[in-house]
Amino acid sequence: LSVSSKPTGAKTPVTDLDPDDWDEFGREAHRALDIMLEHLRGLRDQSVWQHAPAEVKAQFDVPLPQQGRDFAALVDQFKQSILPYGAGNTHPMFMGWVQGAGTPVGMVADMLAAGFNANCGGRNHIAIDVERQITLWLTEIFGFPREASGIFVTGTSMANLIAVLVASRDALGESVRVFGVASAEQKLVGYASQEAHGCVEKAFDLAGFGTESLRRIPPNAKGGMDIEALKAAIARDRAKGLMPAIVVGTAGSVNTGAFDDLEVLADLCAKEDLWFHIDGAFGALCALSPELKPLIKGMERADSIAFDFHKWLQVPYDAGFILVRDAEAHQRTFMHPGAYLSRAPRGLAAGDIWPCDLGPDLSRGFRALKSWFTFQAFGAERLGATITETCQIARHLASRIEAAPDFELAAPVALNIVCFSAKPTREDEDVGLLNRAIVMDLHERGLAAPSITTLAGKPVIRAAILNHRTQMGDMEVFLAAARDSMARQRGANWSEIDADAGEDDVD
Ligand SMILES: Cc1ncc(COP(=O)(O)O)c(C=O)c1O
Repeated sequence: LSVSSKPTGAKTPVTDLDPDDWDEFGREAHRALDIMLEHLRGLRDQSVWQHAPAEVKAQFDVPLPQQGRDFAALVDQFKQSILPYGAGNTHPMFMGWVQGAGTPVGMVADMLAAGFNANCGGRNHIAIDVERQITLWLTEIFGFPREASGIFVTGTSMANLIAVLVASRDALGESVRVFGVASAEQKLVGYASQEAHGCVEKAFDLAGFGTESLRRIPPNAKGGMDIEALKAAIARDRAKGLMPAIVVGTAGSVNTGAFDDLEVLADLCAKEDLWFHIDGAFGALCALSPELKPLIKGMERADSIAFDFHKWLQVPYDAGFILVRDAEAHQRTFMHPGAYLSRAPRGLAAGDIWPCDLGPDLSRGFRALKSWFTFQAFGAERLGATITETCQIARHLASRIEAAPDFELAAPVALNIVCFSAKPTREDEDVGLLNRAIVMDLHERGLAAPSITTLAGKPVIRAAILNHRTQMGDMEVFLAAARDSMARQRGANWSEIDADAGEDDVD
């Protein structure tokens, strides 16, 4: 019996979704790839961002197509109505929020992954080994034991949630999986800096502890968690009979790129017997840069680390990761018996631990492939050099702002994030409003895409340099454009400017 023996009788063209004409489809597929490569190659000639006009948006508010359309026409529609209206994070002048740019290598890898169509929830196939390979490389990068476990997830928000679940199950015992957090004898509490990302608070909410169970500790002058305030909070909670269980350290805060003192946090967690988790969404990858590595000293002692491949490692979205030192604690949190998922000693269902035992997802895509291609194509040294360079560019921008008569820094530049503000020309000028208007004007003119955040109650302009395509010389262009926008806005009718000063608009 051969697997290649053809069944008798062909499928009808209606139910077979493969191309009728593979050659013709191949030509269109190559054209689609060429469109994308041309787009990436010519990024500098394009607007960073443009608002999609009503007639384009209207194309995405149509009834469900009952009949199929020509593939070539769909490629054309993508080129005309989707490609020009992206967020712009591939563009060298994009510096908003905390976003990676992707690479052509990652793009092709993702196409291969889509064709391969692996379901990485488990089973005995090579994609699982590729994902395990990435975990092993991460143990090398972060100084974790080889036995540590990890999985790809959507992003650091999900990785932080998984960490809170593992840490809390470890503290409260497995019965909490059966009877819920309300059954715990003691109320569990955790700690993170006020500068920590909002998704850490969300993780406490989603895990059932409530946001109030996460104590937000004020930062010190450098933006890191105030350790004395943390110690006092732990002591207060213990005195009240609560159960301090988790400290979330931040390696690279979203607002300013500030670091908690991870070494001191590791000591404190060891002394107090607390789970030490690190949100290193982008900052954890300082591990790849010899110059920046001292900033993450202490990270090798963490119980778990959450971070993203899709930010500073330039892997296309999405690719977050959670690494857990204690593989058994990780499994105990998510293992679930299911006859349909039972393991076999041989064949496709072989393997003791499947990725579905390490997180909430059963069906999962092959995120590991684009990350594997990225490490292999560029090597860790070159990826680290890109990270170092973005920080040099950020320092260059900061020095230009310090020397400028009309702008001023709004926070120290610890890493790759520069927060700055227009200087007021009159005592009563609302520069917060002006900063917001400058950013909106830059976006609307397609010149640059910084974002806005609020520091000390004032909206400021925030440039996060993560993009491997951004160059030193772009900073002069950026400041000139911001200055021009400032002049335009000072001459504008202020009542037309959106005065809705939102809270931290960070990613
Ligand atoms: C420090 C920090 N933590 C968490 C996140 C959330 O990561 P994600 O968007 O991948 O869920 C971010 C996003 O910018 C971040 O900067």
